[in-house]
Amino acid sequence: MIIKATTKVYGIFGHPVNHSLSPQMHNAAFQALRLDCIYLAFDIHPKDFEIAARAIKSMGISGVNITIPHKESIIFFLDEISPEANITGAVNTVKNVDGKLIGYNTDVSGFLRAIKEDLGFHPKGLSATVVGAGGAARAVLTSLCMNEAYQVYVINRTLDKAKRLASEFKKGFKDTFIQAVSLDDKDEIKNILGKTNLLVNATSAGMKGVDSVEIPLEYLQKEAVIYDLVYDPRETNLLKTAKELGHKASGGLSMLLYQGVESFEIWTGKDAPIGVMKKALE
Ligand SMILES: NC(=O)c1ccc[n+]([C@@H]2O[C@H](COP(=O)([O-])OP(=O)(O)OC[C@H]3O[C@@H](n4cnc5c(N)ncnc54)[C@H](OP(=O)(O)O)[C@@H]3O)[C@@H](O)[C@H]2O)c1
Repeated sequence: MIIKATTKVYGIFGHPVNHSLSPQMHNAAFQALRLDCIYLAFDIHPKDFEIAARAIKSMGISGVNITIPHKESIIFFLDEISPEANITGAVNTVKNVDGKLIGYNTDVSGFLRAIKEDLGFHPKGLSATVVGAGGAARAVLTSLCMNEAYQVYVINRTLDKAKRLASEFKKGFKDTFIQAVSLDDKDEIKNILGKTNLLVNATSAGMKGVDSVEIPLEYLQKEAVIYDLVYDPRETNLLKTAKELGHKASGGLSMLLYQGVESFEIWTGKDAPIGVMKKALE
């Protein structure tokens, strides 16, 4: 591609960011649609984040994705934030509209689309169990509650974190039953797995070099489906076991794809070339 004075700049702000697959995915999409746009990765140390966040306006950057550890700190620098980003308390996509910065959280819609496409699952009226209580779990919980899940159990290694998350979401979503459970409470876990339609791993356990969380999948109902947010490796031990037991199960690459698809569509107002973006990721 030819970089010109008119080329619109997009990017990702994170620390570290050298592992990010978003530049490949978005540049492939820009090229496929012949858009005069480029997407770059910016490794921004937390101490420099304020300068970088203010530079979105001063340097006329058209849009950015925000990743760890800046998803919460960016909110202070925005002019407007969407409802799902407000509920999640985190922003992963910023659009610069003539100097006004609007924040979104496309992890929320990306997750919903991934479970629909991969597992044929919609949360409405059903029961879900989320393992993890960090940033990704917050996005998953927002997605489940906004889409009228009947009950959601939040299992976490650090029970206090799960309790805080559950109590915060209970205030906003009175129609969904939400309960925190300790990862050590094996009896309670067996009990809730029997009532679960969707099991989600939203911990970083299972990533390359880290063991998957030990969840006794044999207590799940036959029809229960499993989604693991981890995408490196493509198939975690959790997914492997779930498939061996006959469950429909899928890994986090599709969520990564669909959060990118949604960001692209927010920025450009055009239908994203999903096939091209998927190929770039794979
Ligand atoms: N597919 C996607 O598009 C997508 C999007 C976002 C995130 N992710 C993935 O989701 C995962 C979580 O990200 P995050 O942003 O939520 O991270 P985070 O905020 O650091 O939270 C990490 C969570 O994992 C738990 N955990 C970590 N190691 C564990 C272990 N060995 N055993 C049990 N629990 C463990 C932590 O429990 P404690 O509270 O006890 O520490 C915490 O609940 C990462 O693998 C990330 O790559 C994927």
